[in-house]
Amino acid sequence: MSDFFHMGAVLPSSRYLGQAGAAYLAQKQGRVDVLEVGSGTGSFTREIVPLLDVGDRLDMVEINTDLIAYLRRRFETEPAFQLKPGVTANFINSDVRGLAGRFTYDYIVFSLPLTNFPPEMVQSILSLMIERLKPGGVFSYVKYAFISRFKYLFGGAATQSAMRQNQETIGSFADLYQIEQRLVWLNVPPAWTFYWQKPDVN
Ligand SMILES: C[S@@+](CC[C@H](N)C(=O)[O-])C[C@H]1O[C@@H](n2cnc3c(N)ncnc32)[C@H](O)[C@@H]1O
Repeated sequence: MSDFFHMGAVLPSSRYLGQAGAAYLAQKQGRVDVLEVGSGTGSFTREIVPLLDVGDRLDMVEINTDLIAYLRRRFETEPAFQLKPGVTANFINSDVRGLAGRFTYDYIVFSLPLTNFPPEMVQSILSLMIERLKPGGVFSYVKYAFISRFKYLFGGAATQSAMRQNQETIGSFADLYQIEQRLVWLNVPPAWTFYWQKPDVN
């Protein structure tokens, strides 16, 4: 609650939402590079870790220093976060917009609260995510169902304008890339998971 702008949630996501976020990764074939954006306390990470095999790489980017330290401890102490031999995991304590290098990923599992962010930030983060996907790669992101409608109805003019612009930006990416969406009821609150795929060059 002390950082609602970045967190955008009062409870960690449920295991069902985590499974939805990682649903395409669960169908992976061969070795993969995975980016998790906004790992938080590890609700999605916990579903990602068992899917990884020898040679796979997981980069976790999280802006909050305390949360990344907490997540690192979970990897050291909890069986559910035990990596198989030969899997590489990197903890990156950074704003995703500062993600260094030009590394690209087969899967990006994303749970930042986009609706909290100003329109130019949403545009730059989503552009970066598409840039960092390999051709054929899949980006999944979650968004609470029903909440935006209330926020819009009870928000002031500035909030409503930012929300409209964000929805337009997200919609323009969705028009290009969206392949599926799923509603996960077993989460507080229920949430949509959207899946975007970068076209394969072949
Ligand atoms: C809605 S929470 C999701 C946490 C966790 N994945 C879950 O589902 O329970 C969003 C997370 O993204 C992190 N975050 C927010 N903005 C960020 C940014 N620009 N770069 C990296 N992490 C960010 C927050 O600190 C928070 O841990």
